[in-house]
Amino acid sequence: MRFQSVLSACVALLLIVPSAVSVCFPDSERRVLRTDLEPIRLGQGDWNGARVNNLVAKILLEEKLGIPASIIDIGSDDTVVFEMMDRGDLDAYMELWAMEDVLAHYVARGSVQYVGPLGVIGRYGWYIPDYVAELSRSMTQYDAYYFAETVAIFQLPVINSSTTSVSDSTSPLTVAESVEDLLASDTCNPANSSATLQACYDALAILVDQVRELSRLQENNTNLITFWTAPPSWSPIDATIVRNLELPMNVTEIPMLPEDNGDVEAAMVRNMAVAYAARKPFMMQFYVPHPVFSPLSGIGLKRVQLPDYSEDCNAREWPVLNALLSLTACVQCSVVGLVLTLF
Ligand SMILES: *[C@@H]1O[C@H](CO)[C@@H](O)[C@H](O)[C@H]1NC(C)=O
Ligand SMILES: *[C@@H]1O[C@H](CO)[C@@H](O)[C@H](O)[C@H]1NC(C)=O
Ligand SMILES: *[C@@H]1O[C@H](CO)[C@@H](O)[C@H](O)[C@H]1NC(C)=O
Ligand SMILES: *[C@@H]1O[C@H](CO)[C@@H](O)[C@H](O)[C@H]1NC(C)=O
Repeated sequence: MRFQSVLSACVALLLIVPSAVSVCFPDSERRVLRTDLEPIRLGQGDWNGARVNNLVAKILLEEKLGIPASIIDIGSDDTVVFEMMDRGDLDAYMELWAMEDVLAHYVARGSVQYVGPLGVIGRYGWYIPDYVAELSRSMTQYDAYYFAETVAIFQLPVINSSTTSVSDSTSPLTVAESVEDLLASDTCNPANSSATLQACYDALAILVDQVRELSRLQENNTNLITFWTAPPSWSPIDATIVRNLELPMNVTEIPMLPEDNGDVEAAMVRNMAVAYAARKPFMMQFYVPHPVFSPLSGIGLKRVQLPDYSEDCNAREWPVLNALLSLTACVQCSVVGLVLTLF
């Protein structure tokens, strides 16, 4: 643990003042750097995660193993990595995203070896600003987004202290909270020996009837929530999730400006920072780990919970029912798995 905290402290330090710090560990904890070896060449993508991973690898190789390492920038196109390794122009690559098929080819050729996962889990999710999440605890549950009241919040120019109507006791959002409560209750919990699927379903059906009475349903929504997703090069699945769950959202690519230089992450952070500073409502794909989740970033994001992944639900063809009927049908199933492992 001490080792870890020393490491993270000095990685942070190196990132902030790279030229002022030449070594990380104290003399007594370092090996002598060997001069009889060629440096290990680490390929580096042009995003922050890749930079951090390479920096950690370089510190460990040089200071803990005494083996020199050099970092070679490969830009944003990591498809060149395997060819470079195949040609012998690169020795290691730290962060590979979803290229298993290409990897398999070079592994079969015998020129590239998969050493194992890096240990960092990248987790995609749907995020809203904290000032929207605080309007109601339902805002962080995907099922709140079936309601016109929720959609209306996302049409507001800003969220301020007068934006409080969603906590009204007759609001459908409160009913959505009841759905969550019911799902967590004994009636729907196998731990209660008398709970049955039918009992849970019946109780939900009663709630749904109440919701029908109370609310304007999705079909009454004339507006859609703008949902920012990544461009196709990132293979985003948000549009599929929205379609399968029949959510009233317009999944649209994150707006890019020339100043973003084609950097998707930079565009995501820029858009969220601008919207956050103006207290505008927004909803977007984002991911952990990311420095935006540091208290120092000045941006507060909350994750919206989607239903869990299940093969069964993934394989199911969704009938075009009204949104709440699909909500009850989908209660225990899910549309997508959002966990990606970084190699
Ligand atoms: C709050 O925002 C609304 C627009 O969403 C605006 O009409 C209203 O004047 C604002 N109220 C305050 C107190 O700033
Ligand atoms: C178990 O569930 C049943 C309904 O399925 C409910 O009537 C009962 O109160 C629950 N048991 C407990 C201990 O709450
Ligand atoms: C919502 O739409 C349904 C069907 O189009 C309609 O019967 C109902 O009156 C509408 N509810 C409201 C509150 O507009
Ligand atoms: C979705 O958003 C895009 C970009 O803002 C817009 O051009 C398009 O008209 C929207 N589509 C719908 C159905 O609202």
